[in-house]
Amino acid sequence: METLDAIRLRCSLKTKLTGREVPPDVVEAILREACLAPSARNSQPWRFVVVRGRTAIDALADAGLPESSAVIRRAPVLVVACARPADGVVVGGLNYCLYDVGSAVQNLLLAATDRGLATHLIANFDEAAVKRVLHIPDDARAVVLTPLAWPDAASYEEAAAERLSQRSRLPFEEVVFEGAWGGA
Ligand SMILES: Cc1cc2nc3c(=O)[nH]c(=O)nc-3n(C[C@H](O)[C@H](O)[C@H](O)COP(=O)(O)O)c2cc1C
Repeated sequence: METLDAIRLRCSLKTKLTGREVPPDVVEAILREACLAPSARNSQPWRFVVVRGRTAIDALADAGLPESSAVIRRAPVLVVACARPADGVVVGGLNYCLYDVGSAVQNLLLAATDRGLATHLIANFDEAAVKRVLHIPDDARAVVLTPLAWPDAASYEEAAAERLSQRSRLPFEEVVFEGAWGGA
């Protein structure tokens, strides 16, 4: 898949996951690509915890996932993206660590989509419980997690078709201004 196809086809597919194994080298490649993201002063405040296999995923889900996201248990791999705020660069009072983690996570999503893997970001979880189960230290935040799973269709495109047909975005003119905020 080409980069632009991955950007256009990526969507949240938690209802389409299968438990089919995702090879460890594929997961590692995706995480290495995530880590190629830019970050303020190259601070790289991201950390990723890979959770693999039924027992570990069930333990995490039992402790920290709401019912609305229970379907992601099906995935063979969950990745929890964390931030280390102490490593974040502060500019104008703004700590850019979440921005940087978001950049790395977007790389991860596109790298997964490129390989035909389904993802779905989840932020609605019990952070304290997730941190406890995964031994994430006090000075790190668990920001978002995603399953990595092969979709339950003949192709990624087929699995994503329904979701993409319902995709909604704000009108372009509402979010992009020419010259100055609000336009000329
Ligand atoms: C930071 C963040 C947190 C999210 N948390 C959740 C979540 O807790 N549960 C969920 O079902 N989807 C969650 N999503 C998925 C969004 O709802 C989804 O990205 C959005 O509706 C756009 O749909 P798309 O990803 O298919 O383009 C989250 C997305 C982001 C970026």
